Amino acid sequence: MPTTPRRWVLRERTSAAHSAVDAAIGAFGDLTGYTAYLQSIAAFRQPLERQLAAFAFPPDLEGWRPTAVGAAISADLVDLGVPPASRPAGDLALRGDGLFGALYVLEGSALGARLLFERAKTLGLSSEFGARHLALLSRSIEGWRGFLDRLEAAEPFDIDQAVETSVAVFARARAAFEGSLHG
Ligand code: HEM
Repeated sequence: MPTTPRRWVLRERTSAAHSAVDAAIGAFGDLTGYTAYLQSIAAFRQPLERQLAAFAFPPDLEGWRPTAVGAAISADLVDLGVPPASRPAGDLALRGDGLFGALYVLEGSALGARLLFERAKTLGLSSEFGARHLALLSRSIEGWRGFLDRLEAAEPFDIDQAVETSVAVFARARAAFEGSLHG
């Protein structure tokens, strides 16, 4: 019997959370707005990437690792003369297939990053100045496809646990963009 691919279940069950993040990010129509976005994406993404870099990945993710843009975010902050976030958030609770849920949010954000990169370019930013992390993310579509293959193939798989963690990660992103993420 055909079943709905896990990716579509995750997309459906996190779409409200994604919309809330979109709304929290706003338009960043000028450099001041972009700078605020950059500080928030740093507060959201850097602690999670650090946590994942030290994580023991399961065999289901053999040969694949998430796209790391933390260093590029730091370089973007330096380009724009912005101090790094001062209070990094604590570790995310990651149990079992929650790892897939967290990775879904981080890797899937490559899709939206293509739009954000176009927007950043209208502000005079580029892959070499200020929008390095967006350039990297928007080029990581192969990483996203590789992730989706492994997401659909993992067995056994607890979709509810994955969704729960995806929602938690989106909530962190929202908190970061609303300026209230802390450890
Ligand atoms: C204002 C900022 C954002 C905009 C305008 C935006 C826009 C989009 C768009 C248009 C897509 C679908 C692209 C496609 O189907 O080809 C998408 C997908 C996605 N975005 Fe965003 N995004 C934003 C921020 C974020 C952030 C900060 C995150 C993570 C915290 C995120 C996570 C995701 C995920 C996981 C998907 C994949 C959904 C799926 O197709 O399964 N997005 N985004």
